[in-house]
Parts: sequence; C-alpha cells; structure tokens
Amino acid sequence: MPLPQCLYATSGAESAARQWCEQLDSLGCTLPLRDGPVSVDARWLRQHPKLSLICDEQGLWLSGLGMRMQPDWAGELPRLRRATQKNELLARACQVEQKPLIVDGTAGLGHDGLLLAWLGARVRLIERHPVVVCLLSDALQQAMKHPELAGTCQRLSVTWSDSAEAFVAGCVNDSATGTGTAIGSATDFVNGFDTSPQANSDSELSPQVDPAVIYLDPMFPPPANPRKKAQVKKQMQLLHALLDSPDAADSAPHVNAEMRYTVALNKEREWLLKARTLAARVIVKRPRHAPYLGELLPDHQWLGDACRFDAYFNSARHVHAHTPADDEGQRGDSP
Ligand SMILES: C[S@@+](CC[C@H](N)C(=O)[O-])C[C@H]1O[C@@H](n2cnc3c(N)ncnc32)[C@H](O)[C@@H]1O
Repeated sequence: MPLPQCLYATSGAESAARQWCEQLDSLGCTLPLRDGPVSVDARWLRQHPKLSLICDEQGLWLSGLGMRMQPDWAGELPRLRRATQKNELLARACQVEQKPLIVDGTAGLGHDGLLLAWLGARVRLIERHPVVVCLLSDALQQAMKHPELAGTCQRLSVTWSDSAEAFVAGCVNDSATGTGTAIGSATDFVNGFDTSPQANSDSELSPQVDPAVIYLDPMFPPPANPRKKAQVKKQMQLLHALLDSPDAADSAPHVNAEMRYTVALNKEREWLLKARTLAARVIVKRPRHAPYLGELLPDHQWLGDACRFDAYFNSARHVHAHTPADDEGQRGDSP
C-alpha cells in the first residue's frame, strides 16, 4: 500500500501533528514527523512534490504533485442544499426517504456518505487505507463544529477496516457507538477506529443493527487517455497517487496480468455476493460505461451522465421490496 513519506507540522500545529502520528502508528502506518513551513504556499508545495501529509491550523492534508487536498465537506454545502431524493440518483438508489442504516463500504473522502446522511440516512463509513481514514476522521471532527453540518454528523461514523474482508467474515453490524470492537469479530474490526461523535452514548447509529443498504464505490483505474486524465479532479489525482490502483493493496508482482485480473474479479465477486447476504439492497457506483463489479449482472440500474448505480437486491432480507414504482423516472436521469 503506497504511503506518504512523512508528516509535516506547520508552526503552531506540532501538538496536533504528533497526535496524528500516534493515530497513524496505531493503524500500522508509521511516519516520521518533520518541521514544516510557517504556512504552506504554492511554492513550498512545488518544492515538496513527494506524497506527504501536512498538519496545519486547518487540519490534516494530503500533499504531493505540487498540490494538497483534504476532504472538503463544507465545500459540498452548495450541492447538499440543492439535494433531494428526486434529483440525486444515489439518494434514490439507496431509498434515503426511508432513513435507512447504510454501510458505505468504500468511504474514500466521505462525500457520498455525507450526502446520504444529509438527506436523513444513518451512515457507517468504512475505509481501509489508514491515511484516508485519518483524513476522513479529521473531516468529521471539523464538520461537527460547522453549524450547518453538525446535525448530519450525528448520523455518521468512521471505521477503519477492509469491508471486503469483513463481509466475507459475515460481519456488518459494528460498535459505531464506541465500544472499540467494530463490526462483529473480524480481526480488522477488533482494532476498530471509531470516531463517532456519539461515542459511548446513545446514538442514531445503534450497534448490532444490520444495515438496510450497503453502498460500494470502489476505485476505478484512472483513464488511460491523457486528455481525460487531465479532467480528473485534482483532489482525485492525489487520491489516485495514494491509492495507486483499485487492487494496489492486493496485487502480487510475480503473477501475470491475466491471473491478476482473475484474482481481482473473484475478490470483487465474493465481496459483492457477501454484501448481498448482509443487506436487502447493495448499490454499486460505476463509471457509466464500466463493466459490472465482479461482472455480476445487477437487478436494476440508475443511469447518470458520467456514472451509474447498479442495484443488487436480496429478497430474503427485504424490509421494503423493490417494486416497479421504484423505477419511475429513474433510468436516464442525471445524478
Ligand atoms: C472511489 S473512492 C470512494 C469515494 C467516495 N464514494 C466519496 O464519495 O468520496 C474508493 C475508496 O474505497 C476504499 N476502499 C476500496 N476497497 C475497500 C475495502 N475493501 N474496504 C474499505 N475501503 C475500501 C479506497 O481506499 C478508497 O478510499
């Protein structure tokens, strides 16, 4: 798994930076702490192009390639204010009007999870990369202080884990209220990194409750076409540099491309099939023309301009069965 080379602390942020180093260390990611500049500017970023973390008065940043980024939850507010069940395909696919409990098994920067929670769902964000989980945790802590986002944060928790391994182990309900043993007994979750604002108190994210929906948005390889590559958002370019490729954590250099593809496909398949045994509805986000996750044909699709949402239903777990009414106006809508 690619890791940043170090964590820079700007002057005044040394104590917070030390805490992040300890947190990362507990997640198996040991980074040297270095003195950073008084304040970070474009010139300093250009002079420090290697993947690094920066801690300053605005929190934790991933930096590299001459730029820096952090999950920008407050920056999502214009979209959130406009969002409705009707105009957000993700919200429709996840049936947020029913205020479901959703496990977001590929949390990333948390933007999709934030949207779902904003619209009323309770969302457990699960992320496997220790650096991303720290960026996410910092975003949640900052959003808790934001007057417009604080309420939504009560419906969000962050857990450090590999959701594929957890699902295969049959684990999906967790200790999002703060006992520290996250989902079930899977060893990844035993070290659960829970930043729920409701830790150790009554929470909307009750433990031991199975989710109605599992949402997956796995990383897709960046486009080979350099023109399209340039269009990939800057934030995502840095995230790609950190995460490298969808199966960066799994690939072994000695196996050939075909075998790697087969191994990755089988893993995707197992991940999705297990997820389907754990929730009534599994929603998978894909680029619009991408192959199906695990090459498994979905039961239903919502098509947007750039992406689509594939749905897999499990009638044995259905609280609300999928009906033709769910489909009205859904195909071909923009996300
Ligand atoms: C495309 S990003 C998700 C973006 C996210 N939907 C958002 O709105 O910001 C994919 C993320 O899933 C994480 N991921 C991939 N496989 C995972 C797994 N098995 N368990 C947990 N996280 C995983 C990656 O580390 C990456 O951060």
